[in-house]
Amino acid sequence: MRYIPTNHLKKNMVLGQDIYDATGMMLLSTHTILSEENISYLAFLGVKGVYIDDACSKTIEIKTLVRPEIENTAVQAVHDMFTSALGEQLDVSEEERRIQRIVEETVKDVLKNEQVMCNLIELKTYDGYTYFHSVHVGILAGIIAAKMHLGEDEIHDVIMAGFLHDMGKIFIDADLINAPRRLTEDERVSMMEHPRRGYEFLTHRFHFPSRVNRAVLEHHEWYNGMGYPEHKRENQLLNLARILKAADVYDAMTSKRPYHQPYLPSEVMEYIMGRSGMEFDPRVVEVMARELCIYPVGCEIELSNGKRAIVKENHKGYVLRPTIQLLDTENLIDLRADREARNLTIVKLMM
Ligand SMILES: [Fe+2]
Repeated sequence: MRYIPTNHLKKNMVLGQDIYDATGMMLLSTHTILSEENISYLAFLGVKGVYIDDACSKTIEIKTLVRPEIENTAVQAVHDMFTSALGEQLDVSEEERRIQRIVEETVKDVLKNEQVMCNLIELKTYDGYTYFHSVHVGILAGIIAAKMHLGEDEIHDVIMAGFLHDMGKIFIDADLINAPRRLTEDERVSMMEHPRRGYEFLTHRFHFPSRVNRAVLEHHEWYNGMGYPEHKRENQLLNLARILKAADVYDAMTSKRPYHQPYLPSEVMEYIMGRSGMEFDPRVVEVMARELCIYPVGCEIELSNGKRAIVKENHKGYVLRPTIQLLDTENLIDLRADREARNLTIVKLMM
């Protein structure tokens, strides 16, 4: 299986995954032979890329961290919580139970795959939808927490906090949230209210553990105290909030936003590592740098000698030097260990 950006898809390619729309409904199933119409429709929906099955990638195996059906139910549940929050009070305890069940299922998957490096591309079918972003932040935060060997209850709570972290935005003018421009000072102040608004809403409406609500309150705080809303720093900040902060920035920067194109995972990791100890907790950064795949398995890359290859396997702690499979000869190169590959570098990632 390998990953192909939607603008490189060709008729008759065979889908290697189920595709869901932005509300979690299945659109196309695995093994579908793509037609021109299918490809145009995927582009229209904003699907960034899909896994396909073909002869040259048949030995490349993609390990899914969280079952797609769980991710999609999470998106639906978060969507429903966001939209019902402004309407009349529905059955709050049922809403609460529903999200609890989904978080529990997500925790199971995260723990089952604790040894797997994090191939984040699977979380990147869609960009720019608040609900997808929220779910991705929750999953990524859960993965980081698991890699930091936190307890199961903390992993649970950080996933929950991730799903709900931007809930306060429902109280902010929607035009501000998607404004493709710099905000004025007043607008910025109003935008910066969202962690507190979210915290207050969650505290009053639900009975989640208090650290879930507090992590939501602190998700824009910086490790050095330069964040908002309370300028807390270091140990004043919940561990879970420091993880949430990094997961939020990672997902936001690798996504297309009204005001920026997506950055590559390598660029985002460079940013995060460069701000370790300032914006981000160094312990969180260290885990991310070791465990998040900068060159996700299944992606096509270009080498410094002009050859193209597909990423086959990542190695913990050596995220820049995966094992790759050349597209022309199908030969494998372990960029970490093969002596003759010492001078080869990856110069481009097709995403
Ligand atoms: Fe936020």
